[in-house]
Amino acid sequence: MPPVELCLVIPVLNERDNIAPLVACVDAVLGGIGWEIIFVDDDSRDGTRAAIAAVARQHPNVRLLHRIGRRGLASAFVEGAQASMAPLIAAMDGDLQHDERLLPKMVAALRSGQYDLAIGSRHVDGGGLGEWDKTRAGMSDFATRLSRMVLKVPVSDPMTGFFMLRRDVFDQAVRGLSAIGFKILLDIVASLPTPPRIKELPYVFRTRVAGESKLDAGVLRDFALLLVDKMIGHIVPVTFVLFAVVGLCGIAAHLVVLLVGMRLAELPFERAQLLATALAILGNFALNNIFTFGDRRLRGWRFVRGLITFSAICAVGAVGNLGVASFLFGAQRSSWWFAGLVGAAMSLVWNYAVSSVVTWRKR
Ligand code: GDD
Ligand code: MN
Repeated sequence: MPPVELCLVIPVLNERDNIAPLVACVDAVLGGIGWEIIFVDDDSRDGTRAAIAAVARQHPNVRLLHRIGRRGLASAFVEGAQASMAPLIAAMDGDLQHDERLLPKMVAALRSGQYDLAIGSRHVDGGGLGEWDKTRAGMSDFATRLSRMVLKVPVSDPMTGFFMLRRDVFDQAVRGLSAIGFKILLDIVASLPTPPRIKELPYVFRTRVAGESKLDAGVLRDFALLLVDKMIGHIVPVTFVLFAVVGLCGIAAHLVVLLVGMRLAELPFERAQLLATALAILGNFALNNIFTFGDRRLRGWRFVRGLITFSAICAVGAVGNLGVASFLFGAQRSSWWFAGLVGAAMSLVWNYAVSSVVTWRKR
């Protein structure tokens, strides 16, 4: 066997029927190139790993990385790449939608030394989206525009999941990666210290034959998180920003409930304030559970338990807030708004720091 020059990292989730055809396609086009495949499987339930084991008996250069309790194309690619030592690394889908005939061209482009990165693009002459409907194409187009906010170089198709790069280029980016969600190419290009030289090769996105797409609302959320993390993640964690935004919504909701409680329901102030506080905590908890900590979302009994710990943490935060604010306002003679703001900021940081490790602790 020739030494391994190229490692194909292929993230898979329930792709049983695509494994054998995919390896056959790759094998057919990569004659003369030493290659290996690392399938990164996030605990598929359909027999994908058995299918991989079956092809590995014929192809000793096919390997498996089995992850448990993890999700996401981006982190799967990173871990697969790190499990290999090949000088060239490619990312490819495991559902035959990426045209494997591009692989030799990508290798040639990188071997020439003129490029750092070769991408399969659907937005250059000869490329295309295949049979995507208007909605999906529109979403992809919108995401492509948004991604320009974090990219320092023009990339015709930053949303593509089909590309190849040199290991030394990957190593320059790897410590800065967000590795959130699906869009690993965007992440890599935005994390490189200098703009890479990119070879763009056209391909037409094929129609999926076996298995199902994994695109869902979570993928959209993760894309937004990736963009925010790339823009400000080096200053504050992106979950803190979400937590703060949810907190601001909570204050607005609090004031609305207070107003409605007093004006319409004619509750005395203390009652209305108590009701508003309770609803704001419940609302904040539910929103943080969906957005901020959506990756560790609490359901059923854990939801109830989480609500209890979250309320307790917020109560302690409120006491601290009051303590600091009255100290500044009283002893330090600070202005009311400064004292109020510092108190609120204190409790925000406290609530975030403690609830992220207690209420939404990583399991
Ligand atoms: N390990 C792992 N973990 N693999 C996953 C996961 C996951 O959480 N989610 C999806 N995959 C695998 C799928 O099994 C498939 O091999 C590949 O990642 C792409 O998933 P699809 O669900 O088929 O994605 P798609 O066709 O909607 O999206 C494709 O188009 C995008 C271009 O707009 C993918 O190619 C993306 O990579 C590409 O960016
Ligand atoms: Mn697909």
